[in-house]
Amino acid sequence: MDSAELWRQAAKDIYWYQSPATLLDSSSPPFYRWFPDGVTNACYNALDIHVAQGSGEQVALIYDSPVTNTKKQYTYTQLLSEVAQFAGVLKAQGVSKGDRVLIYMPMVPEAVIAMLASARLGAIHSVVFGGFASNELATRIDDATPRVIVAASCGVEPLRVVPYKPLLDQAIELATYKPERCIVLQRSMQLGDMTSGRDLDWADAMAASESANCVPVNANDPLYILYTSGTTGQPKGVVRDTGGSIVALKWSMKAIYNVSPGDVYWAASDVGWVVGHSYIVYGPLFAGCTTVLYEGKPVGTPDPGAYWRVIADYQVNVMFTAPTAFRAIKKEDPQGTLLAQYDRSSLRALFLAGERCDPHTLAWAQMKLQVPVIDHWWQTETGWPICSNCLGIEQLPIVPGSPARAVPGYDVQVLDAKGGSVESGDIGALVIKNPLPPGTFTTLWNAPERFVSAYFKKFPGYYETGDAGYINEDGYVFVMARTDDVINVAGHRLSTGAMEEVLSDNEDVAECAVIGVSDSMKGQVPLGLLVLNSGVTQDPQAIVARVIEQMRDRIGPVAAFRQCAVVPRLPKTRSGKILRGTMRSIADGEHWNMPATVDDPEIFDEIAVTLKALGYPA
Ligand code: COA
Ligand code: AMP
Repeated sequence: MDSAELWRQAAKDIYWYQSPATLLDSSSPPFYRWFPDGVTNACYNALDIHVAQGSGEQVALIYDSPVTNTKKQYTYTQLLSEVAQFAGVLKAQGVSKGDRVLIYMPMVPEAVIAMLASARLGAIHSVVFGGFASNELATRIDDATPRVIVAASCGVEPLRVVPYKPLLDQAIELATYKPERCIVLQRSMQLGDMTSGRDLDWADAMAASESANCVPVNANDPLYILYTSGTTGQPKGVVRDTGGSIVALKWSMKAIYNVSPGDVYWAASDVGWVVGHSYIVYGPLFAGCTTVLYEGKPVGTPDPGAYWRVIADYQVNVMFTAPTAFRAIKKEDPQGTLLAQYDRSSLRALFLAGERCDPHTLAWAQMKLQVPVIDHWWQTETGWPICSNCLGIEQLPIVPGSPARAVPGYDVQVLDAKGGSVESGDIGALVIKNPLPPGTFTTLWNAPERFVSAYFKKFPGYYETGDAGYINEDGYVFVMARTDDVINVAGHRLSTGAMEEVLSDNEDVAECAVIGVSDSMKGQVPLGLLVLNSGVTQDPQAIVARVIEQMRDRIGPVAAFRQCAVVPRLPKTRSGKILRGTMRSIADGEHWNMPATVDDPEIFDEIAVTLKALGYPA
C-alpha cells in the first residue's frame, strides 16, 4: 500500500467531528499539513470514545509508585470524569483553545489528567521534565508563555524528595513572562508554600469545578509543545499537531507494537519525555489499552526485580523502555535470578529505544525474558518510531545493532556530506525524504525559521535526523552516532552546547569543552574540560567543584555532570575549532588519527593524561 493510501485508511480509524476531505497540503514545504480540513479532539479520542463505545469499565490507567507505596487504578469512566473536572478547573482560569498550559510534575496520574484536560479544551500543553532545574524551566516559561502552570509540590526519587515548588517559584522569578495562575498538587511527602493571589490548590480547585466538554479543534492545531535539546542552550520547542498525532499513534499501536484494545501496555519512561507523551499517555489510550504509569526506577525501588514485579502484577503484554534500564538491572542482578519470582507469561514483546542498543544488552534481555526484544529508533521530533520491526505487520528477523527497517510512511536514506547517495553499507547522514508522515513535528514553537534551518536546509527535500549511520543490503538501518552536540545520558537527550554555556559563564573560565564519553550503564556521560583565565589563583579543584554545582543548579541533576578537569589548553584546528571528536575518541579508547590541521600534536598527550586521571578509557 502506498503512503497516501495508508494514511487515508488509518485516518478512518479515529473519531472526527468533521472528516478530512484533503489528505495532505504540500503547498508550503517543509511545512506539510496532514488532514488540513479535519476537525477532531485528542481527549475525545483518548477517553470519551471508549466510554461511548461501552468500554467505560475497562481499566485505562494503572498508577504504581514504589517510591510512595501507592497503587491506584482508573477505569476509562473514572479517568474521563477526572479529566473533564480538571478541564473545568482550567476553563475557570480562562484557559481556552490555543492557550498554553505548562505542566511541571513527576510521574503521578494528575500529570496525565492535566495533559488530557488541556487537550480537551484545545489548549496546548507543554510538559517539563522534573529533573530540570529552575533555569531550564524559566527558559521554557518564557518561550511558551503559559496562561496556567500546573505543578506538583514535590517529586520522589529513591533516596530523596525533590521539592518542585521552590524550583517553580524560582523559575517564575527568573522568567520575564509571569503566569497569572499556578495550580499546585500538594503531595504529603513535602507540601509547597503557596503564593497568595497566584497559586491554587489542586484539590480545592477540583472540588469547586464543573466538568468541561471537548472543544473541537482543527487537525493542524497544536496538541503540545515539547522542548528538546538542540545545539545551543535555547531548547527547541517541538510542536505536534492534533489530527496527525491521533492517526499515527493509534496506527502505530497495532502496526508496530501489535497491541489491541484491552491489552496492557507499559512504557517505563517519564511523561516529561516524548516516549511518555506518545506511549504512556496518548498511544495506549487512543488504542483502548490499559496504560501503566510507574513512579519508580528499574533498580533500587526496591531491587532489580521491580520491572518483573510490575509485569506480573498487571499482566503487562508489551513493554517499552531504554536499554540503559536493562543495563542497570543486569549490573545488579547479572544472572537475572529475581526473574524466577515473577510470572511473566503475559509478556509478548519488549521494545527498546532512546539510545543505541548494544547487542550485549539485547541478547541478555532476550535470553532472560524469552520474548522478541525489538530495538526501534525514533526522536522527539518524529514522535513515533522511524525504524522498527513492526510486529503487527510482519515480524522480521532480529539483527542486533539495528532497529530494523524504515516503518511504512518513512523513506529513510543515507546521504554523503554533499547530499549525494551512498552505496549500501556506507556511513553517512541519516535523512528522511519529505514529507514526514502524520504525527511528526510540524514546526518549532516561535521559531519556524529554526525549524527550516536546523532540519531541512542542509539536504533540500529531506529531513536531517542529526544521526549518522548506514543501511545494509537488506534495508536494515544502523544508527551509529549523532552528528551534532547532542548526547544521550541514561536515555535522556542532553546538549553539550548548553552545558558549555553554563561552564563559560563562570568568571574564571576562559575556554571549555564538554564531550560525551562512553559509560557502561548510562550509555554516555558528559565530561567537561576547562581552561582557566590567566591570573586565576584559586585551587582548580575548588573551581571544578563549583562548576559541577552550577551545572546541577542551572540544568538539573539529570545532566549527570560529575566529571570535569582543568587543562592548560584545548586542541583546536588552525581555524580555532575545538577538536571534541578526537578527545572523545581518546576517552573512549577508540582508534584516532592525528588531525592534519593541528599545530602542536603534543597537546593530545596532555589531554590523554588528564582523561586517564579521570578514569578514561574505562
Ligand atoms: N525529578 C527530579 N530529579 C530527577 C528526576 C525527576 N523526574 N529524574 C531523575 N532525577 C535525578 C536523579 O535523582 C539523579 O539525581 P542524583 O544526581 O542526585 O542522584 C539524577 O537526576 C540523574 O538521574 P538518572 O539519569 O535517572 O540516573 P540514576 O543514576 O538515578 O538512574 C537509571 C539511572 C538507568 C536507573 C535511570 O536513568 C533509568 O531508570 N532510566 C530509564 C530510562 C528512561 O526512563 N529513559 C527515558 C527515555 S525512554
Ligand atoms: P530523543 O529525542 O530524546 O528521543 O532522542 C533521540 C535520539 O536518541 C536519536 O536522534 C538517536 O540519536 C537516539 N536514539 C533513539 N533511539 C535509538 C535507537 N534505537 N538506536 C540508536 N539511537 C537511538
